[in-house]
Amino acid sequence: MKQKQISPQAVTVDFTNMTKKALKDKGISEERILEEETRAKKAFAQVQESRGQNAAMMGWTELPYSQEEIVEDILETAKNIRKKFDAFVVLGIGGSALGPQMAASALLHLHYNELPRQKRRGPRFYVEDNIDPVRMRDLLDVIDLKKTCFNVISKSGATSETMTQLLIILDLLNKAKLDPKDHLIFTTDAKKGNLVKLSEKLGGVKRYILPDGVGGRFSELSPVGLLPAAVTGCDICALLRGAAFMDDRCKSDNVFENPALMSAVMQYIAICEGKNIGVMMPYSDNLRYLSDWYAQLWAESLGKNKRLTGESCNVGQTPVKALGVTDQHSQVQLYTEGPFDKVVTFLSVESYNSKMPISKTYADGELSFLGGHTMEELIQAENSATAYALKKAGRLNYTIRLPQVNAFYLGQVLFLFELQTAYAGAMLQINAFDQPGVEAGKQATFALLGKEGYEKLREELSDDESDPKYVI
Ligand code: PA5
Repeated sequence: MKQKQISPQAVTVDFTNMTKKALKDKGISEERILEEETRAKKAFAQVQESRGQNAAMMGWTELPYSQEEIVEDILETAKNIRKKFDAFVVLGIGGSALGPQMAASALLHLHYNELPRQKRRGPRFYVEDNIDPVRMRDLLDVIDLKKTCFNVISKSGATSETMTQLLIILDLLNKAKLDPKDHLIFTTDAKKGNLVKLSEKLGGVKRYILPDGVGGRFSELSPVGLLPAAVTGCDICALLRGAAFMDDRCKSDNVFENPALMSAVMQYIAICEGKNIGVMMPYSDNLRYLSDWYAQLWAESLGKNKRLTGESCNVGQTPVKALGVTDQHSQVQLYTEGPFDKVVTFLSVESYNSKMPISKTYADGELSFLGGHTMEELIQAENSATAYALKKAGRLNYTIRLPQVNAFYLGQVLFLFELQTAYAGAMLQINAFDQPGVEAGKQATFALLGKEGYEKLREELSDDESDPKYVI
């Protein structure tokens, strides 16, 4: 077969194990893909037309190209933070936390915070994306307020969790007679929300803008993700270059040439055929949190109950996070023999940043097959073996291959997933950029805590009592 010319710089996607050729009657035929060609081309055109438009929440498509000045400013700020602080804490939740967490895990040493200062490229790094009081107490036990910078990230500047964390930190700074503007950086909307007001009240807290047309889950390539990554010494220019590189690879409306469009088409067909679960399984500890970031992107974007036409529906695919090889010893049994309701996406790495040779010294007898190899070879072999086992069992799976885990390739993967999500949303004819289900929970929290204007909802919630018969 004639090989396609793909740049060695590219993250590639191998869909072979989704097809009839590999899976026989359980696979997707070329005819089936071609049946969706018109829908895919329409989705592509819709995404193309709305690129960069704030009203359509498509501002994220331009992030790889539009931030030269912001990047300069971020690099300068990051340099100062590295000089002054021992710890950098992100306070945020959802789209305002998952990206920074994912990028740090991907690009930093896996025990970054435990490394001595001279071996770290920046301050210790924490992402506090929950309001468990124990977690807050324990964080305060390990940071020195005087030497900590807090990056408060909230697009709305209203999210109860993030505002609560901020109120606690502000009080502590005040009690310690520390000037809040020396210890806080806000990343938020240009005009709206409490962070804008607070920044002024506190005498001008440094602010980064989360642009209008960029929703939380599409914000990693904005200051939301760039500042934390830069503070810890990650190459944010390479991250953006990687995103632009993938964008360029997705310029065609031919599904056989555009990896993000093919992913959307494959997933769309799978969803239509009852594959309601999408497993994301990186074979890399560095990429572990990429599954969390992707889970939000895919779930919040596609889990909708209304088409753009107003027609009712209940669509989406439940993302499941797994880690290779760890979950081979936990979930893979289900993936191989359980219900035919999943698509498994592997994230494979061609060259790990460490090989870790396995010594032959004690590798005799039954262990001799291991000696002389490397852990890299073993993890790669297990990755291929799992894909093979799934294929033999007729299970849909495909592989996203990163030449290496670094900022450039991570940028490619992020943009691949973002475009795939936008195309899939357009194919499903839903709004992939809102999150009314999340908002409902936020409003109920306001009501329960007595926020002004939510009295009616509070009344409704107080009627929502448990039935004693069912409390056992
Ligand atoms: O993707 C989203 O829009 C949400 O997950 C938000 O990011 C999350 O609810 C936090 O919102 P905010 O950034 O406004 O505090």
